[in-house]
Amino acid sequence: MCGIVGYVGNQDATPVIMGGLRLLEYRGYDSAGICTMDDGDVDIRRSAGKLVNLERLLKEHPLHGTIGIGHTRWATHGKPTVANAHPHKGGSVVVVHNGIIENYLLLKEDLANKGHDFTSETDSEVISHLIDEKLKTAESLESAVQQALRDLQGAYALCILSHKDDKTLIAAKSGSPMVIGIRGNEYFVASDMPAIIANTRKMVIMEDGEIAVFRNGGVKFTTTCGDEITKESRYIDWSPMKAEKNGYPNFMLKEIYEQPLAIRNVFAGRLREDEGDAFLEGLNLNDMQLNSFERLCIVACGTSWHAALVGKYLIEEHCRIPVDVDIASEFRYRDPLVSNKTLVIVISQSGETADTLAALREAKSKKAHIISICNVVDSSIPRESDGVIFTHAGLEIGVASTKAFTTQLVALYLLTIRLGRANGIIGLKKGQEMISALYELPALVEKTLKLDDQIEEIACEHLTSWDAIYLGRGISYAIALEGALKLKEISYIHADGYPSGEMKHGPIALIDREMPVFVLAPNDRHLVKVRSNMEEVITRGGNVVVLCSEGDLETGKRAKYTLLIPWAGEALSPVLFTVALQLLAYNIAILKGKDVDQPRNLAKSVTVE
Ligand code: AGP
Repeated sequence: MCGIVGYVGNQDATPVIMGGLRLLEYRGYDSAGICTMDDGDVDIRRSAGKLVNLERLLKEHPLHGTIGIGHTRWATHGKPTVANAHPHKGGSVVVVHNGIIENYLLLKEDLANKGHDFTSETDSEVISHLIDEKLKTAESLESAVQQALRDLQGAYALCILSHKDDKTLIAAKSGSPMVIGIRGNEYFVASDMPAIIANTRKMVIMEDGEIAVFRNGGVKFTTTCGDEITKESRYIDWSPMKAEKNGYPNFMLKEIYEQPLAIRNVFAGRLREDEGDAFLEGLNLNDMQLNSFERLCIVACGTSWHAALVGKYLIEEHCRIPVDVDIASEFRYRDPLVSNKTLVIVISQSGETADTLAALREAKSKKAHIISICNVVDSSIPRESDGVIFTHAGLEIGVASTKAFTTQLVALYLLTIRLGRANGIIGLKKGQEMISALYELPALVEKTLKLDDQIEEIACEHLTSWDAIYLGRGISYAIALEGALKLKEISYIHADGYPSGEMKHGPIALIDREMPVFVLAPNDRHLVKVRSNMEEVITRGGNVVVLCSEGDLETGKRAKYTLLIPWAGEALSPVLFTVALQLLAYNIAILKGKDVDQPRNLAKSVTVE
């Protein structure tokens, strides 16, 4: 997630902005930049890599002025280079942007036809040119910004400057976070409170569709339609550390609750409703090339391997393409049977997992075509892939994967649509239905998150458990594995995920009154079978907690606890069941006093064998 800082007041803007960007470093970034306005001139400094590089550049080429904007970039569109670093300048307008503009390619084409030259691959640069274009006819910078924002589709948190109005700083928000700090007639803008809290605790939280215009020591708030609005300031008494977690007690819970936004960011700009198709800019494969592969092989580790299993179910079900799934540490030493007719998909949040990278290289040595699904743009795995689908989850600090996993599932869902449309197994209508279901998903995740109190009650009843079993059929088997891993890695309770049909082949010997059996029973084609598997456990005195779908009043009748999960269809409900199981593991771990962000023995990225 990018970091934004803006300042207007009576101090030199550069140290204020650089100090704010340093306080946002925890958000993760791969390039940075700053722009100040001094006596009508705008001047920009940008660098790839860490802030220290930008600081070095500023020492050699200092900036002046009491109004400025700064940015740390988490690359989504385009590599982390200086050319792609913010601020971006389009004509007379300079912007820094956090978010994803879905219709940027169409806007870019239109602006290029009007003579605008682009120097980056980013969606953000388009915003500066769009405002510049509007400024040709608008009565003011403020009006040009309002007009431009009405043309944008997608998420943005923006700071805007123009030498044509050198006393004005404009900030605008829709879909990405933004706060404003007020100290007398000084104003601080940031994507997150930590960048401001050191200067002032008097803050205004911006809402979607709102614009702030800072001029002559004052501020005016408007909508994108130009209507003036009143905003209340509030006193924020959070510590800087708490502010870094946006008020959450730890990063894991913050990232669990970020999932609606993260999921939106995965499909933002990638859905073509009219064509019932997905647009995956980094795939680099046309329909004919996609259809030339005889089979797919998905390779990953840990939670990403669970995502791979979900991918198998989705792609075989909807595209009728054979999919093998392999654990990377096994695949790399198996002399795998892949060739130039195999599409190997490598899934990795960090893009640096040693076994997964080695598996990629092994597959590549056998001429397989490599596509990676990854969250970290400038990492080894996407760099060595032939194509990549970035998950845009933003930095995930908690060691236990949460939003990284659910965004991997959505990326695989998008790939399923693309593959199925390419080989024609998914027709226009089906593709459009799948896209509609995806649009509904973020709100259903919000709804699932509201089960937290009920989940906490269930967690309280299972603190003393030493073992747990998670059961699921079909696509839910992968989620059972993920739920078990979450519990293991943050609460240290031993847990296993099993296909629910497997119980009678051994694990049922484990059943007793103590051990919780978490049964995933969504309202899909397996429900009747799962109910009978659950009955096998109950009749042996087992302690069943069943997660079933909203409206299902039958399945939970004999369970000890029932959790009703919203229904998102067979293909997307795994995301919602995952969120519930994340909260279950989280609550148990917290109640047991565990460090959920840094569990013992674990690393966020396993870069060694
Ligand atoms: C899961 O919560 C863990 N963080 C771990 O299993 C992780 O998924 C695995 O190490 C793979 O990491 P990657 O996705 O970065 O390759």
